[in-house]
Amino acid sequence: TEETLVLIKPDGVARGLTGAILARIEAKGYSLVDIKLVEPERDLLEQHYAEHAGKPFYEPLLEFMLSGPSVAIRLAGNRVIEGFRSLAGTTDPTTAAPGTIRGDLGRDWGLKVQQNLVHGSDSPESAARELAIWF
Ligand code: GTP
Ligand code: MG
Repeated sequence: TEETLVLIKPDGVARGLTGAILARIEAKGYSLVDIKLVEPERDLLEQHYAEHAGKPFYEPLLEFMLSGPSVAIRLAGNRVIEGFRSLAGTTDPTTAAPGTIRGDLGRDWGLKVQQNLVHGSDSPESAARELAIWF
C-alpha cells in the first residue's frame, strides 16, 4: 500500500463540496488515515509549492490558498498516488475529463486564481515531502 497527500482546496471547502469529494475518494476504496481542516500560514504554502516559485501563477496561487481553509488528508491505498490523480483529472477544470472530480465539479479558472478543487501528490518523493509539511 501507498500514501499520498490530498488537499481539498479553499474553493472546494467554500463551495460545500468536501462531502462530495470525500464520497468519491471513499467509493474508490481509498482509506482516510488522517484528516483535518487547516488554515495554512504562508510559510507552509511556500514549502508546499517550492517547485513553482517564480512562475507567473505562483503568487496568485498562494493568495488563493490563503483565502480560506483547506482539508488535508493522509490517504492510503494500492497505487493511490497515481490513482488519486486519475480520479482528480487534469489540472485545468475546463478540459478535465467528465467523470473526474475536476471535470465534473470544477469551474473554469478565474483570471487570477487556480481553482481546481483538489491537490494530489505526484510521486512517492512528493508524497513523503508534502505529508511531512501538512501532518
Ligand atoms: P496539484 O495536484 O494541485 O499539484 O495540481 P497539478 O499537479 O495538476 O498541477 P501543478 O502541480 O503543475 O500546479 C499546482 C497548481 O498550480 C495547480 O493545481 C493549479 O492550481 C496551479 N497551476 C498550475 N499550472 C498553472 C497554469 O499554467 N496557470 C495557472 N493559472 N495556474 C496553474
Ligand atoms: Mg502538482
